[in-house]
Amino acid sequence: MTRSSIDGQTASSARVYNYLLGGPEHFHADREAVRILMSRFPTVQASAKANRGFVLRAARVMAEAGITQFLDIGCGLPMSPNTHEVVREVNPDARVVYVDSDPIVVVYGRAWLDRPGVVTIAGDLREPEAILASQEAALDLTRPIGVLTVAVLHFIVENDAGQHVARLRDALAPGSHIALTHVCADTIPREELEVGQAIYSRSTHPVRVRTRQEIRALFDGLELLEPGLVPVADWRPVPGTLFPESAPEALGGIGRVPH
Ligand SMILES: C[S@@+](CC[C@H](N)C(=O)[O-])C[C@H]1O[C@@H](n2cnc3c(N)ncnc32)[C@H](O)[C@@H]1O
Repeated sequence: MTRSSIDGQTASSARVYNYLLGGPEHFHADREAVRILMSRFPTVQASAKANRGFVLRAARVMAEAGITQFLDIGCGLPMSPNTHEVVREVNPDARVVYVDSDPIVVVYGRAWLDRPGVVTIAGDLREPEAILASQEAALDLTRPIGVLTVAVLHFIVENDAGQHVARLRDALAPGSHIALTHVCADTIPREELEVGQAIYSRSTHPVRVRTRQEIRALFDGLELLEPGLVPVADWRPVPGTLFPESAPEALGGIGRVPH
């Protein structure tokens, strides 16, 4: 069941993450969830920061590969730097479409992020065709797209997460990239795993943790860029950047749609 993020009583994955990153957008329920998480899972904040560092590096790598349009699915609440800021350092004309299934995220995105060439829309990763067909998104499907769907797939608890990625992959032009991260069952101590799952089961988004093998399968049909599927902080680290924390709990990588 998906709970609403707007009742104020239910922690939301977007606000919990924003709070972990030191952002300002959270309610009491979110802070309480983080308090319990951190008491039992002390590395969770470093893990969130390492994940955010991956987002920023992955976006830059895709822009440097020549991609000019980006789809950030499960973008989370606005924060800076964000995807459009990073890719526009490489290409000031890059188009960025932010997508989230949480209505609060969409309202904040529209208020804070939208500007010429940057748009926020409501959408669900489980319905990739609707996102790609969105008139507001105005994506050119004949040209490569840089897709970020970072720290989102573990919120798809059903067995078919891989099919959603595959449908997305099949709709993208060759040379498109898909960047993703996922919490990994193999590297989290059992007690931390259980407390994390219990907390998120009461939030807007229950979590399903997958094994390394299951996460690797999400890249089926894609060419994995170097260094492959690795802990998020180890993916092309840039010393001295904003979020250098280590985080073995989540794996990340970028897959390219073959020509
Ligand atoms: C932990 S935040 C990640 C934010 C950002 N991608 C990052 O990694 O820095 C997860 C976001 O995914 C969104 N989300 C969860 N399930 C989703 C789905 N099926 N489709 C679109 N967004 C989803 C949540 O609302 C939340 O904003």
